[in-house]
Amino acid sequence: MNMLAKAEAADHALGEAMDRYAIVKSTIYTSGERDPREPPEHPDARGKLHLMGPDPRLPRMPERPTLFDFFKYRFGPSIHLLQSARLAQKNGVSEKLVLACLLHDIASGGFIRADHGYWAAQLVEPYVDEEVSFAIRYHQVLRFYPDESVGYKYPESYIRLFGADFKPEPYLERAYQYARNHKYYMSARLLTVNDLYAFDPNVHVELEEFTDIVGRHFRQPDEGLGFDQSPSAHMWRTINWPTRYL
Ligand SMILES: [Fe+2]
Ligand SMILES: [Fe+2]
Repeated sequence: MNMLAKAEAADHALGEAMDRYAIVKSTIYTSGERDPREPPEHPDARGKLHLMGPDPRLPRMPERPTLFDFFKYRFGPSIHLLQSARLAQKNGVSEKLVLACLLHDIASGGFIRADHGYWAAQLVEPYVDEEVSFAIRYHQVLRFYPDESVGYKYPESYIRLFGADFKPEPYLERAYQYARNHKYYMSARLLTVNDLYAFDPNVHVELEEFTDIVGRHFRQPDEGLGFDQSPSAHMWRTINWPTRYL
């Protein structure tokens, strides 16, 4: 089959799959665009099955997906993560912290934005050392608070993004105080220092550069992420199959 024939066959298969299944979006996809108190809009499901597997519109993940498979097939372009990890490496931080930099924003890139530090930490917690998940969880909060001892200032980009009068809420202040007094404070702080906000278009970083670090510090389950029995396996499955009905 030539390229064009292949593309046409793929299109045809997708069309058939879309005719076969009714795809219902989770409330969180649409909340705000519609009033979540109203009954959800369901697609016309007459003669169709409800999807209980992979979404035919998405690239198919391997049976036993690895962390890198999620990077390749489910997370948006990860330039920010790759460049942050590279910078951390250049600054000579520990391998665990390089890993934390590589993973710190996977939630905003592949799952949910709000409280992205907490979501990302929870996703990786069963597979990394506590220092790594702590750094990821609290980088989100620490970004709001300067620390002159390491030259970390309140980001100018936050003034642009959130306005000059944005003030972290009391729960964030409490989380900051907790993190400030924790034994891994400096790990989370170093993550904020290496958390690059501007992409350098001239710096090209490949995911594979971090294969060894991931191999040494991320305990990949044999069954594949999502199919093990860890407390966050269901979250990986949801990223894999975001439109599964139940
Ligand atoms: Fe972040
Ligand atoms: Fe970041």
